[in-house]
Amino acid sequence: MKSNYDLASRNYNLGTETAFTVLAKANKLASEGKNIINLGIGQPDFKTPEHIVEAGIKALKDGHHGYTQSTGIPDLREAVSNDIKKRHNETVSSNNIMIVPGGKVIIFFSAMLMGEINKEILYPNPGFPIYESAINYTGAKPVPYQLSEHKGFSFLADDILSKINRNTSLIIINSPANPTGGVVPKSELIKLVKGLEKHPDVVLMSDEIYDQFCFGENHFTSLLTFPEIRDRLIILNGWSKTYAMTGWRLGYGIFPKKLYEIAEKLAVNIHSCVNSSAQYAALEALVGPQDCVTDMNSHFKRRANMMFTKLNEIKGFSCQKPNGAFYCFPNITKTGKNSAEIQNILLDELGVATVAGTSFGKYGEGYIRLSCANSEYSIEEAISRIKEYFN
Ligand SMILES: Cc1ncc(COP(=O)(O)O)c(C=O)c1O
Repeated sequence: MKSNYDLASRNYNLGTETAFTVLAKANKLASEGKNIINLGIGQPDFKTPEHIVEAGIKALKDGHHGYTQSTGIPDLREAVSNDIKKRHNETVSSNNIMIVPGGKVIIFFSAMLMGEINKEILYPNPGFPIYESAINYTGAKPVPYQLSEHKGFSFLADDILSKINRNTSLIIINSPANPTGGVVPKSELIKLVKGLEKHPDVVLMSDEIYDQFCFGENHFTSLLTFPEIRDRLIILNGWSKTYAMTGWRLGYGIFPKKLYEIAEKLAVNIHSCVNSSAQYAALEALVGPQDCVTDMNSHFKRRANMMFTKLNEIKGFSCQKPNGAFYCFPNITKTGKNSAEIQNILLDELGVATVAGTSFGKYGEGYIRLSCANSEYSIEEAISRIKEYFN
């Protein structure tokens, strides 16, 4: 007899990350012999630096093959704590730091910790699509706040504060931002934190995964620098972008004690611990030489500058200078086509993989995302193909 089961209904609420769909299509076209330039995926095109790879190999050879503490090896948590002290001059106990398999896990944990039916969660739109997906999965209502081009793709604290009501349980913030490259100025963060005094029950999750990719006028400010919200602040960060380690699946979260205890149970229930050798590689990444980070950053900065300048030479495109992360997010409304149409023309006709702005939420209509994670040569070639088509 043919089976006829149905899934738990929350599963139908899951969204996805279109960048992976675009990547699969781009790879398929490439395997058919098409000349594809991939500006779709948000991962550094650099290899993980050699000394980090060696530390991972050594850990395997040294016999680190078993489970580790579910929250991560103590030396690594201590190294994260020291890194935060060094970069932000803030003290975070290693007891509040949890190593997880990818920064993404912290998004899901935060949504699971704070979201359920009758709760509301605020999140940036356009923004990383997993925020909305994870919120929907928990049954909570996703409430977008818009990042608009005319505000430099930052938010206005008053806008977020005006959306808080007694059902609001969590606010998600991401700066420097994917997909817009926007960086929230410190003045807005100060306003937000001040305004939150009136809403002591609302938790914040600050996704700071691009914190070392900041090259515009607005300097990066970590929410860790606001002691008044520390007891209700979750931080997401990790190694994927900073050290070109996306495939190692490493990230970390910082949680206040009350949330940490439950997050630890989630970790034990879901993944037990992070791959042991990867944790030793992550340790080396933090304690070893940092010139690889400076090097990669200067490449991304140069490429972003070149990309946004050249995008502005394309008829119908206009692009703000990104302040951080490694994406350009040009406005394409004057081409007379929508985001999905542009994404398809670029990939199918020109062999350039990008991601439609609508993959990042409804306010992404009229935009496309191009990643700077490709060589200057490829970026130049991709943009000249686009220019030739539209000009
Ligand atoms: C804003 C943002 N947060 C989190 C992540 C997830 O990073 P990871 O690969 O460490 O899970 C990404 C990855 O693209 C991202 O863009």
